[in-house]
Amino acid sequence: MSWQIRPYELSDRPAILEISKRTWGGYDQLPSELDKLMANRNSYMFVMEFKDRVVAFANLKVIDEGKTGWMEFMRVHWRYRKRGFAWTMTQRLITEAQNLGVKRLRLSTTTENEATKRITDRIGMHRLLHMKLFWKGNFRRIRWKDVSVPNVLVSTDEAFVLLTDFPSLVPKGILVDYWHAYDLTKDSLESISENIRFWKGEKNGKDMALSFGYLRVFRGEPMWCSTIYAVGEHSFYSALSQQLQTAVEHEVRGVLCFHPVQYQVGHEIPGLKRNTFSSILVLYEKHPPFDTR
Ligand SMILES: CC(C)(COP(=O)(O)OP(=O)(O)OC[C@H]1O[C@@H](n2cnc3c(N)ncnc32)[C@H](O)[C@@H]1OP(=O)(O)O)[C@@H](O)C(=O)NCCC(=O)NCCS
Repeated sequence: MSWQIRPYELSDRPAILEISKRTWGGYDQLPSELDKLMANRNSYMFVMEFKDRVVAFANLKVIDEGKTGWMEFMRVHWRYRKRGFAWTMTQRLITEAQNLGVKRLRLSTTTENEATKRITDRIGMHRLLHMKLFWKGNFRRIRWKDVSVPNVLVSTDEAFVLLTDFPSLVPKGILVDYWHAYDLTKDSLESISENIRFWKGEKNGKDMALSFGYLRVFRGEPMWCSTIYAVGEHSFYSALSQQLQTAVEHEVRGVLCFHPVQYQVGHEIPGLKRNTFSSILVLYEKHPPFDTR
């Protein structure tokens, strides 16, 4: 057989770096995540070898207290694409998930990712939710401010109480953070990041927002990573303003933000009109049977 799929080993790192070099224009976050994935005992990392060369990578992570098989970081070397390798790797992840007894498969991608869409169609996954996102690189400062709804720092406990008291804030009780999606629990809120901060914005008991953010180092540079949940335009834009000003205070070089689809950012906000990448994250899900034939 000219190909095989096997567990990832430390010595595969250079091959993965090579694959990542030509993924997302070199802005692939996989290299900076490899060590964390290795250290996570709920991660099942695989590579595909074709003619003795590592040509693909993918990870299955078991999350949500064993309920979810989270499929992530599917990568195929650019020279070996469109040969069915991603599909074969997907089948391997699904077999692993079945053996582990998960209750559902989930994955996220952007709505533009045609190959992933084809694969999710073949598995019979359905779209569970959407979140908009924007990425602003070369971020320095932003003059625009909106303080129409005051935002105050709250503890993780207070954030959790707010999110459970207002279920309409977090659609389907699924928390989106940096391309990941988790069942909303206190544990999942706490495990997002050690240095996470939560803000609550509220006006008249109706216009409401809960946003969170934290620093991540990406390619040696600090970036601000945040998610905003809001019902009401005023609270949304005030929470956005809060996140951007906090990013400025931390002197980050980039801002990545996930937010509800009903609000516009990229073309609306002075300072974010140019050189801002906008897209839509889509979360796919599949319940058993996970048959892929
Ligand atoms: C997405 C990616 C993993 C696909 O790998 P691949 O080995 O080329 O995919 P496959 O050959 O298994 O193709 C799977 C399906 O997608 C289709 N496909 C593959 N590349 C495509 C493209 N660029 N545009 C449209 N469809 C595409 C194939 O025709 C196939 O469809 P089919 O099942 O109807 O025949 C690869 O392009 C890649 O590494 N991209 C960068 C990282 C990425 O986007 N990862 C996934 C989301 S995180």
